[in-house]
Amino acid sequence: QNIGFIFDLDGVIVDTAKYHFLAWKKLANELGFEFTIEQNEMFKGVSRKRCLEILLDIGKVTATQEQFNTWMHDKNVDYLAYIEKMDASEILPEVPKVLEFLKKNKIPIALGSASKNARPILKKVGLLAYFDAILDGNNVTKAKPDPEVFLLAAKEINIAPENCIVFEDAVAGIAAANNAKMTSIGIGDASILVEAKYNFKDFTEMSLDFIKELIGKK
Ligand code: G6P
Ligand code: MG
Repeated sequence: QNIGFIFDLDGVIVDTAKYHFLAWKKLANELGFEFTIEQNEMFKGVSRKRCLEILLDIGKVTATQEQFNTWMHDKNVDYLAYIEKMDASEILPEVPKVLEFLKKNKIPIALGSASKNARPILKKVGLLAYFDAILDGNNVTKAKPDPEVFLLAAKEINIAPENCIVFEDAVAGIAAANNAKMTSIGIGDASILVEAKYNFKDFTEMSLDFIKELIGKK
């Protein structure tokens, strides 16, 4: 078959949003303001740089370029301390089942993430070997909702964009997949991911039969 699957990382394969949140919250508190879990929603799928810009807006903090870079670095150091402790137990339910199914059927699998920490995370949780291509924050110049990361992933697995299926948990990510003319599947709250072609709360709600049907349609 001529079909490929592209996975977002944070919130689709692993629940790292909680670690991003803790690291941003620590920085906010050090700068003297609060940062809530609700506000953290806006950070999903958004680049580190853009997240800091939003955070500083929330706290009404102005920064010199040097401070900005320092804070971005500090946040990542804190985040990496959480990542360091990750293992396979943090893989979201039934993700390995889906990856295994695709592998068995020789369907190419790619990662399309905004994170610059994607490879170390996949390695930590033991999923690196499943991916035929990894495109992440180190490869792109334009952030989601721009389709760049997904288009690069499609190119690398040699599948036409319209034959790619994307799993995403972020509004910006669904938009990026749609902008790439790919089939978007929202993983998470359907009332938030309204632009997705299909929606599932998580992979436990999505059967392998659904994937078989998708493959059959292409
Ligand atoms: C993902 C997460 C975002 C995060 C971004 C960059 O898209 O959902 O919350 O800001 O990656 O991650 P990084 O690991 O490079 O800071
Ligand atoms: Mg995500």
